[in-house]
Amino acid sequence: MSKITAAITAVGKYVPEYVLTNKMLETMVDTNDEWITTRTGIKERRILKEKGKGTSFMAIKAAEDLISKTNLNSKEIDLVIVATATPDMQAASTSAFVASEIGATEAFSFDQISACSSFLYGMSTAASYIESGRYKKILLIGADMNSSMIDYTDRTTCIIFGDGAGAVLFEPNREGLGLQDEYLRTDGNGREFLKVDAGGSILPASEETIKNKQHFVHQDGRTVFKFAVSNMAGVSEKVLERNKLSKEDITWLAPHQANKRIIEATARRMNLDMDKVMINIHKYGNTTSATLPLLLNDYETQLRKGDTIIFAAFGGGFSWGAIYFKWAYNSN
Ligand code: UT7
Repeated sequence: MSKITAAITAVGKYVPEYVLTNKMLETMVDTNDEWITTRTGIKERRILKEKGKGTSFMAIKAAEDLISKTNLNSKEIDLVIVATATPDMQAASTSAFVASEIGATEAFSFDQISACSSFLYGMSTAASYIESGRYKKILLIGADMNSSMIDYTDRTTCIIFGDGAGAVLFEPNREGLGLQDEYLRTDGNGREFLKVDAGGSILPASEETIKNKQHFVHQDGRTVFKFAVSNMAGVSEKVLERNKLSKEDITWLAPHQANKRIIEATARRMNLDMDKVMINIHKYGNTTSATLPLLLNDYETQLRKGDTIIFAAFGGGFSWGAIYFKWAYNSN
């Protein structure tokens, strides 16, 4: 019997309608379109504005988009993983709510929380369950409402982040397609450089934490940038090397969308032309856990069965990694 591999067989997406452009940000903080475009590659981002709606709202919409495109029966889903850095609430699992709302009543679910690497690590988790033969249909959703933790008076962070969600379905494959190899890393020394100080167990919410703006994202951009470039490129090279892949073997690089300059540096280190690199940062900014599935949605019609994709991500923690993947279907 041939080995079971874990393939992606469908994708879906949701981004909020509200568009926050660089021009609009110029009226909110001391910045300009030229600075944002040249330093980050971002032109606009989507923001979920409706009161009372959070990450689960977008995750459900992305899942429903996938379900409507495939006629998938929700009751056949075995597991729902919501990769996120912005869960709906503390304590209550966001994924449990999402699974119920989409009618995945026969599934169990959990949240995968690993900053910008949440979706990448979720791919590894989903694939392991499929490869083991234990489960057959796993819905992996990357969703983040970054606007819930951004200070829109802080020009160093508010220009970067956006909201959105993307979903993928993992199923067993008998043709050797899907996840081939992975190299995933973490380094806790990095946590000082990108974090939300308060609201967790170390520093619960108080009048003082609110006054000190400690519920917002703070990052040392330069340090994160430096580590992101060297680590994302490093793991991507490692995956190529140990699978004996040359640049000709790679159809696509699907990199986390944090900064266009980080993406370009990673491609350069891999010796890849930019026309092989998936990019949508100009439209959505950094959507944390949603960047990789949003790329797959935006490029779905260009992907061909057997295409070789290198996924790479870097984020808070620090957490990072690369996955070597073979695409399993033609969408048209
Ligand atoms: O997804 C999770 C991982 N996150 C990342 O990968 C983010 C990594 N970091 C970055 O993408 C970049 O570091 C940033 C986009 C955040 C910043 O770009 P940079 O080229 O590293 O700029 P910088 O922080 O070195 O700042 C350069 C200058 C500073 O002014 P001085 O000190 O040179 O006078 C900043 O105050 O640019 C200033 N600046 C701005 N100017 C206009 C910072 N933000 C802005 C802004 N508009 N929005």
